[in-house]
Amino acid sequence: VRTTTLGGAKAGVIGLGCMSMSFAYTTGRRDDREAVAVIHAALEAGANLIDTADVYGPFANECLVGRALATTELAASALVATKVGLLAPTRDGQDPRPDGRPDHLRAAVAASLRRLGLDCLDICFLHRVDPAVPLAESWGALAEAVAAGLVRWIGLSEVTVAQLDLAHRIHPVAVVENELSLFSRGPLADVAPWCAAHGAGLIAYAPLGRGMLTGHYRSRELFGAGDRRARLPRFAAGAFERNLAIVGRLGDIARRHGATPAQVALAWVLAQGDHIVAIPGTKRLAFLAENLAAAGLGLPPSCLLELDSLGEPVGARK
Ligand SMILES: NC(=O)c1ccc[n+]([C@@H]2O[C@H](COP(=O)([O-])OP(=O)(O)OC[C@H]3O[C@@H](n4cnc5c(N)ncnc54)[C@H](OP(=O)(O)O)[C@@H]3O)[C@@H](O)[C@H]2O)c1
Repeated sequence: VRTTTLGGAKAGVIGLGCMSMSFAYTTGRRDDREAVAVIHAALEAGANLIDTADVYGPFANECLVGRALATTELAASALVATKVGLLAPTRDGQDPRPDGRPDHLRAAVAASLRRLGLDCLDICFLHRVDPAVPLAESWGALAEAVAAGLVRWIGLSEVTVAQLDLAHRIHPVAVVENELSLFSRGPLADVAPWCAAHGAGLIAYAPLGRGMLTGHYRSRELFGAGDRRARLPRFAAGAFERNLAIVGRLGDIARRHGATPAQVALAWVLAQGDHIVAIPGTKRLAFLAENLAAAGLGLPPSCLLELDSLGEPVGARK
């Protein structure tokens, strides 16, 4: 896997999103043994950015990543990114809610280190800016964790350029993690150029449109009641079918290039900048292998143009 720089470290341009191993998408099986094998296989292939968060589970996903790291000789090559500052829902159907109070963040960093079995987090994100807490206070708490040697690089997730400017004046923003895919191109207008101009890496989360762009999900029936996607506007009845039509056109393009829709979707994300790392999420070895192969898929400019004009999906992304 080709590499780029995140913080001061080398990262494969395809990393691994671990969320669906324990949280949010309950479709299909949950198999911790295969999930650990997926993390090991990613590291073996050089897809060394391993993305988790304390809220995934909650906590179970960090414990799983910690077990995977403890059982491979490749642990030292991993770039472990976790996120703090979101609290798990207390009821089904609720979304996680932000908690950016410095005391909470300090305790959360210490707890993430314990669960992951690490002395120092490679990357720690403020998962969401808490509207009830000045960003300078939340960011300041993460900067203190860097000064204390508990975290190497800090980043922000789901942020605006104004928030990035504010944070960067206090402590360098090393990495940004925003949703970026053929179905969510917003960051290309402002956040991606900001990252390039400030030497920050950009992690594209949900690069497969939460699975939609793979062509694997042909029916809404595939999302069980506990699957968060069933509540997202793009997956709602009506919107889902219209979005499938766009995925059909993506499939036609992929066939012409001897690739799968997921690979073309990932190659498009990577073509948007050398500072971008895509983190497709999967808990399955077969999907991981398919996704990793996208790093070697060069798409000609005419194909990128065609993908640029695929059309906007129906329904908001969240
Ligand atoms: N910073 C944030 O706020 C934030 C928010 C959301 C996600 N994330 C991170 O970003 C990562 C990726 O995002 P995501 O998981 O939401 O969306 P995604 O990567 O766009 O899609 C993941 C979904 O696609 C399926 N999939 C993956 N590869 C496939 C393939 N080759 N063929 C068919 N299906 C495939 C997965 O299935 P299986 O799970 O069954 O393998 C999963 O259901 C997460 O794991 C998480 O680490 C961050």
